[in-house]
Amino acid sequence: MSAQVRPNIEVFSELGDLAQAAASLFVQAAHRALDAKGQFRVALSGGRTPRLLFERLTSCEQARALPWSRCHLFWVDERYVPVTDPASNYKMANEFLLEPLGIPQANIHRMPTELPLDEAVAQYESTLQTVFSILPGEVPQFDLIQLGMGPDGHTASLFPHAYEPHTEKLVAWTVPPDAPHQRITLTPHVLQAASEFMVLLTGKDKASMLKTVFSGEPDVMQYPIYTLWPVLKRVTWFMDQAAASEL
Ligand code: 6PG
Repeated sequence: MSAQVRPNIEVFSELGDLAQAAASLFVQAAHRALDAKGQFRVALSGGRTPRLLFERLTSCEQARALPWSRCHLFWVDERYVPVTDPASNYKMANEFLLEPLGIPQANIHRMPTELPLDEAVAQYESTLQTVFSILPGEVPQFDLIQLGMGPDGHTASLFPHAYEPHTEKLVAWTVPPDAPHQRITLTPHVLQAASEFMVLLTGKDKASMLKTVFSGEPDVMQYPIYTLWPVLKRVTWFMDQAAASEL
């Protein structure tokens, strides 16, 4: 990593402490946005790790007390599967966050995977423009984006050498190298426009890639997590000791 930029890394020996720290950042980001604009707009990732955050938010009094009617939830990405499919990011969030917190349906903006793929992409782009009150060509500025990273250095559904890094689109579909599901994803410039980010990383399988990306020169096609490098100052990396073990 170039010397002038140091990542904001927080390492935890206990997953519960990591979850609490992430939930605290979520609540603080929400209050900042609600105080400044009267609403909070956040995009969530899928996979395994976010469940830690979701479950903590549902048990954390400060999170439960948020004015959820003024909070809008979006997805960073989604597997192109029905909402009933175990692989669905929405399904996991609904089970561990949305239903337990009773978040109003009008504030839940899932990617419409019941539509044909191109229509789903177009509709989500339209949803972003409507909820953010932006015109075509403008970019939505999320107050917070929660990301993860795969062992291959992907984030969102931006996979190595399998996405368009400079698209002007807000939403795109991609095909992971190892499939099995096509994906719908926010695009790099939408991610980079956010006010704040948290990246949640647990497990030994992340350690080698974290060492690689924090010591190398950015190459967003080889390691799409480098999408965050232009906005690194706004990123907090929450990791357990296993994920941080090679740093
Ligand atoms: C997805 C995610 C994806 C995830 C990474 C890390 O839909 O799978 O959005 O980008 O963040 O694959 O996943 P874990 O947190 O489960 O390791």
